[in-house]
Amino acid sequence: MKYILCLFPLWLLATTALAQDDWVNLQKQGGAGLFQEKCGMCHRPGGMGTGILGRRMSAELALLENRTDLQGPFIENVVRNGFGVMFPISRAEVSDKQLQTISTYLTEKQ
Ligand code: HEC
Repeated sequence: MKYILCLFPLWLLATTALAQDDWVNLQKQGGAGLFQEKCGMCHRPGGMGTGILGRRMSAELALLENRTDLQGPFIENVVRNGFGVMFPISRAEVSDKQLQTISTYLTEKQ
């Protein structure tokens, strides 16, 4: 029992260190990196999303990274609920924190 009590502060230290590490990684990777990883396969130049959006807007604006009219709640709604032919993306694929980072990245240049 004594041993377990001794280990508890160590465990606590280890888990807080890990949680901080996660946060640091997210900060380092940043919105641009996360966007590339989670949305890029469709929303980079030549991606399926870019192609479909290009049917109703200019090729330049079809790239989400060039848009200045996107609002955070709209982006979050599209990602969670889907939009047209874009499937909803679950929290298992993109966590709330990651989605917020991506959304900030796409809206901060406004
Ligand atoms: C599997 C491909 C795919 C992935 C992955 C994807 N999208 Fe999309 N997205 C699309 C397609 C296709 C459309 C256009 C849907 C339509 O107009 O019918 C779209 C549309 C959108 C729109 C609407 C733009 C507008 O003005 O109408 C937003 C915002 C958006 N995506 C954000 C994201 C974000 C953020 C991610 C990453 C978290 C993401 N998408 C990942 C395919 C994808």
